[in-house]
Amino acid sequence: MNPDQNSDPLFDFADADDYQRLRDLLAAAGFLDESVLEAIGINDLPDLASDHPLLLDRTAGGSALHTLIRLFLMEMPVEADTFAQAIRPMAADSWLQAGLVRRHGSQVTAALKLLPFRNLILAFDLPALLQTPQRSRYVMGIGGSTITLSQLTIRRHCRQTLDLGCGCGVHAFLAAPHSSRVAAVDLNPRAVRLAAFNARLNNISNVDCLEGDFFGPVAERQFDLIISNPPFVISPESRFIYRDAGLEADSVCRRIARQAPAFLTEGGFCQILCNWAEKDGGDWGQQLAQWFGGSNCDVWVMRSESLSPAAYGSKWIRHTEFSDGETGFSQRFHQWLDYYERLGIASFGAGLITMRRRSNGTNWFCADESPERMIGPCGEDVARGFALRDFLETVQEDAALLACRLRFSPDLRLEQQFTPSAQGWQVSGSTIQLARGLAFQGNSDTFMANLMIHCDGKRTLQELLPDMAAALKADPARLAPLVCQLIRKLVEQGFLLPAGQENES
Ligand SMILES: C[S@@+](CC[C@H](N)C(=O)[O-])C[C@H]1O[C@@H](n2cnc3c(N)ncnc32)[C@H](O)[C@@H]1O
Repeated sequence: MNPDQNSDPLFDFADADDYQRLRDLLAAAGFLDESVLEAIGINDLPDLASDHPLLLDRTAGGSALHTLIRLFLMEMPVEADTFAQAIRPMAADSWLQAGLVRRHGSQVTAALKLLPFRNLILAFDLPALLQTPQRSRYVMGIGGSTITLSQLTIRRHCRQTLDLGCGCGVHAFLAAPHSSRVAAVDLNPRAVRLAAFNARLNNISNVDCLEGDFFGPVAERQFDLIISNPPFVISPESRFIYRDAGLEADSVCRRIARQAPAFLTEGGFCQILCNWAEKDGGDWGQQLAQWFGGSNCDVWVMRSESLSPAAYGSKWIRHTEFSDGETGFSQRFHQWLDYYERLGIASFGAGLITMRRRSNGTNWFCADESPERMIGPCGEDVARGFALRDFLETVQEDAALLACRLRFSPDLRLEQQFTPSAQGWQVSGSTIQLARGLAFQGNSDTFMANLMIHCDGKRTLQELLPDMAAALKADPARLAPLVCQLIRKLVEQGFLLPAGQENES
């Protein structure tokens, strides 16, 4: 993997005013709006390819918006005249020179993808590049992992933020409004150029796009927030910089986790989207905890899935190896499985690791399963998860916990299911869930429901115990350890909050 920088276009307009012209014309066409597809009457396309005929029909009018959608979203050639019309007052030559489009006889095709995303407009590579000799330096666009990390990012004001492995720069740009300065670092020079182009296109002036390996370009600097969606796929390959770190097993994520603390300010957070190898015969959390010994960080791991080697290999080959036919898939799949077997990997965990630098006191480590659903931005929930675990550290003795006033979350929802029976409608089950953010949910019983609704923040748990015990016809003293155990889990997941801290994190 040795990208040849010289064969990449500069991704820059010769005339700096062209950035403003491009923004203006995209805005005038309606292409800046994320609901660009709604504008043509389509709002729930699973993917653009599957509804090609419908999109063709909806973009037949020949407006500037239609031309831009055909060119950059549908990846279709358009007639040079139609293109020239759509980009007025800009000249087609400036788009050609900047590397946005290519000319083929009387037609123009997109050389990059141009996508409106969360009030940004982003240029990145077309998937077709993956099937060319330049494939190693492919710059990915908005993937599932991009969206997950963007939803989980803690969005508080930062003096300095680092986006490590920035690709087209999306996380750096999303962090720009809540950061004084952002460093966007990538090993791939093509990514750095595209990120710099995107920064100018979006008129973002506080992001520095830097080329280099891991923390190399920011040595000696300290950050309040480090975010990274690294090339985490575990495989024997080194074909794509965006996917393969070329390091053994999960070394790329481990390396970032090990090096990050030195670049964090006190209290600063580092959030890494990770895949890791899980070995047989041990708790996955305990295995992962070894990455953080001596880190001076509190660490919260949220595991979103754990896959067998076969499921993991097949998933990533299908997602990233588009040119493999059936035989190609099979060969690659067996090569990957042999590699996993050689390394003794039993399963593959995936999820978010969040670290917070805290040099004083004993650091804590928590490894939990993610909630099944994340509703809207979750960064504040992640930050609050740290505050809640800090609180739990202070009440490790049951007596200390019982002395606390807790309050149910305003986002708590209780649902009961009733089933008809000979005696009339009977409660047959109930669930608790949070209505937004990290939307944890679980089955509940009368005991748990009772416990939660009693927690109104006014009385301590100790004061509530007699009522709860009476409702359950139980002895308060014998109930206390059970209550404490349950309360700890409910606090961890954000169902119950220490009174007075409901809006704090
Ligand atoms: C999975 S992509 C993420 C891109 C983008 N941040 C996102 O979330 O959509 C991983 C990125 O890490 C970059 N990368 C790979 N190895 C790197 C290294 N050693 N140092 C810095 N960046 C690296 C790749 O070029 C790629 O842009």
